Amino acid sequence: MKRVNIRDIQAMKVKGERIAMITAYDHPSARLMDQAGADVLLVGDSLGMVVLGYESTLPVTMEDMIHHTRAVARATPRAMVVADLPWMSYHVSVEESVRNAGRLIKEGGADAVKLEGGTDRIPTVEAILRAEIPVMGHVGLTPQSVLAFGGYRVQGKGVEAAGRIAADASALEEAGCFSIVVEGVPAAVGRALTERLTIPTIGIGAGPDCDGQVLVYHDFLGYGSDSPPKFVRRYAEAGQEMREGAVRFIKDIKEGKFPGPEESY
Ligand code: KIV
Repeated sequence: MKRVNIRDIQAMKVKGERIAMITAYDHPSARLMDQAGADVLLVGDSLGMVVLGYESTLPVTMEDMIHHTRAVARATPRAMVVADLPWMSYHVSVEESVRNAGRLIKEGGADAVKLEGGTDRIPTVEAILRAEIPVMGHVGLTPQSVLAFGGYRVQGKGVEAAGRIAADASALEEAGCFSIVVEGVPAAVGRALTERLTIPTIGIGAGPDCDGQVLVYHDFLGYGSDSPPKFVRRYAEAGQEMREGAVRFIKDIKEGKFPGPEESY
């Protein structure tokens, strides 16, 4: 089976077909999301918060990303696999950024990398692209900027702030990004960026008019995510079902009901 590639993703915008991107961090989650029909699996650095238990994405390392990207890539016959460059893996020098992007492809098995930021990141984006590695941009409420923003706050409120995000997105498009995640901006900004850019926008908390949508699967499937943000819609209560199953299993053990004759040799 052929994996979805950057040309397929760009053609979807032209055809008006919405792009479905879902996070994945390990083999079983990648298999499920690929089987469900996701176009893109994002090994996001949200890994740090939803899988590794950190308060933010900042502690996530290149080794963490490679380890989890490998597991996802091995499980994914169809969806395109995009891996996040973690914080400080592309901030020190352009050379180090290209090397780290290459590791996500060569060692992780990803098809593309994603990085956060706008005009400041253009030399880095251009250098990674010169190494023939597709790059997805990420503008708006970029979680790696949590310290600089002073918290997780909706970005692009007001004409000036919206204009800065538009300039960032246009610069990323001109540099050669094949698509852009737009996070945590008013719906009107999501719509304006989608109309302005020829590359697909993939929104998260950016309203209904982006070319695609992405959510962290823990949020929309109710798995270890007790108070999801406003932009999340719940499609399942997986965590509750797992807890209830575990409660029944433990009860059966305590009462000597497991294993029974059918589970015994
Ligand atoms: O890390 C992540 O999961 C992301 C998405 C939320 C866009 O960057």
